[in-house]
Amino acid sequence: MQPYVITVDGPSGSGKGSLALRLAKQLGFHILDSGAIYRLAALKALKQEVDLGSEDELVVAIKDMQIQFDSGDELTIPYLDGVDVSEQIRTEKTASAASILAAYPAVRECLLGIQRDFFQPPGLVADGRDMGTTVFPDAKIKIFLHASTEERAKRRYNQLINMGLSANIGDLLSEIEARDERDRNRSVSPMVPATDAVIVDSTMMDLDKVVELVLSHIEDVNNHKV
Ligand code: DC
Repeated sequence: MQPYVITVDGPSGSGKGSLALRLAKQLGFHILDSGAIYRLAALKALKQEVDLGSEDELVVAIKDMQIQFDSGDELTIPYLDGVDVSEQIRTEKTASAASILAAYPAVRECLLGIQRDFFQPPGLVADGRDMGTTVFPDAKIKIFLHASTEERAKRRYNQLINMGLSANIGDLLSEIEARDERDRNRSVSPMVPATDAVIVDSTMMDLDKVVELVLSHIEDVNNHKV
């Protein structure tokens, strides 16, 4: 079979990262966590104390950043300029900065090639906001994963606590709402499902159920049943 791309888009906390990991593992595909790329760019900007209001300065700061991912069994370790920044890119400060920076067309353009380079045989599972609309518009399979805001805040809370970080559910809810608003309403590559995406609501479904549903869809597409 020809190498192909599966896109998994959706808001944070919808479970798209976990779904993408499981699919990649099951199919033996490469994985792209595009949110991590935006977070690495944001971290670079924060470290250099770049004005987040200046698109030009941001592009200069991130143009020469060196990024690398080491794939483990369950986790992918991100490196920025040779340093493991797994924890730093997961803070809300970095997430908010990533969302601000992601609204600039020149920044998105700058990160496009990096993302497309992840598509290598035998295939790629790409997770993000605009994988199916902008980065891989010709992807063979497109999934858009939803979940209610409350459920997503709860999942994020548990994730942060499990990482040994502090968290407040009310603050997380407001941050998620603000981030969704920015991600949905930006002029370039807003977070919207591709017209040919399959939309899945994971609010009431556990990960196993979502994986099962999506794998069966992939099988149907590969067998020309849909
Ligand atoms: O998925 P995430 O929470 O790690 O993403 C962090 C931010 O990066 C998110 O608020 C918006 C931005 N992002 C984006 O604009 N496009 C993507 N494909 C992935 C992430």
